[in-house]
Amino acid sequence: MKYSIKVQVTENSRREGLDFSSLPFGRTFADHMFIADYYDGDWQDCRIVPYGDITFAPSMMAIHYGQSVFEGMKANISGTTGEPVLFRAGRHSERINTSCERLGMPTVPKELFLEAVNSLVALDKQWIPESEGSALYIRPVVFATDECLGVKVSERYRFMVFSGPVGAYYPKPVRILVAEKYVRAFPGGVGFAKAAGNYAATLKPAQIAKEKGYDQILWLDGLEFKYIQECGTMNIFAVIGDTVLTPPTADTILDGVTRNSILTLLKEKGIKVEARPIEIAELIAAHKNGTLKEMFGSGTAAVISHVEDITYLGESYQLPPVSERKIGPMLKDWLTDIKEGKQQESYGWVTPAVSSLAELAD
Ligand SMILES: Cc1ncc(COP(=O)(O)O)c(C=O)c1O
Repeated sequence: MKYSIKVQVTENSRREGLDFSSLPFGRTFADHMFIADYYDGDWQDCRIVPYGDITFAPSMMAIHYGQSVFEGMKANISGTTGEPVLFRAGRHSERINTSCERLGMPTVPKELFLEAVNSLVALDKQWIPESEGSALYIRPVVFATDECLGVKVSERYRFMVFSGPVGAYYPKPVRILVAEKYVRAFPGGVGFAKAAGNYAATLKPAQIAKEKGYDQILWLDGLEFKYIQECGTMNIFAVIGDTVLTPPTADTILDGVTRNSILTLLKEKGIKVEARPIEIAELIAAHKNGTLKEMFGSGTAAVISHVEDITYLGESYQLPPVSERKIGPMLKDWLTDIKEGKQQESYGWVTPAVSSLAELAD
């Protein structure tokens, strides 16, 4: 590969004695992290070092103007081979570049992205939890590092990857509140990118919703407040009659890797599926006439989160109990089994985390 990666293995692993059985999401980090810096028009100084603090100048552009994008992906230990495997790493690599392009940032060559992720996971494989539903969550991130207060694209960037063991994200069905005032994304904006700023915009509304007893917000479109978009950090699905519906991805909706996988698996099973604009009014009408059978969110962290109830304009609509649902639970099991290498798939989604770095093989 064009990029060589230097590896500094930690002398103080924090792995031993760590209890994986009750991990809060995103607070425990594995021993190593990958770093590359972009300057003079290319990615340079690629290295894996012990996980730890980084320093930056107060004028670092990312913290002022928000040129910062990230990914969230998972590795598991394959139930078949006992070796670490990644789920759809190539698609995550493509998506981070879609995000980079929208924010005027340099893309990360696929070979560099994959080598970074594979090497890191191979090195930290002792950190991959093996209990069902748990995984090593991997966080690639790219951000602007120029020291400058001018509002313009940065000339320097950092690409980092680090990881940590996680359990199930939402252990129980979620209660969702349909947005009435706030908007997550709008046409022509950056909603389809995994840009840090998108999340910042949702934090206060999500906090208000939490205070009212809801787990997530179901976002509506920003023009008419009519069409459902996404649910928190998940794509949203509804089952009406025998058809699975989800909004089409466009410039306001993140093209979720889990969403895409679900659409593929549903087609494989011959289940009717439509990716089309869905009015909130259509969901409410389906609930009233008894045809709204299921709703669930999909995402890397959550896999599938069943929706317990939705509240719209002060009215709550209870969905059937999960025990009566057919599609969401089936997908959750199927996808989890695929990721954990317990069930084969024919799409090339699950790949061994293999590093070509000689140092790692030692
Ligand atoms: C806003 C948003 N939508 C949808 C998703 C689901 O995407 P994926 O399935 O690729 O994790 C995520 C999580 O990554 C997200 O942050």
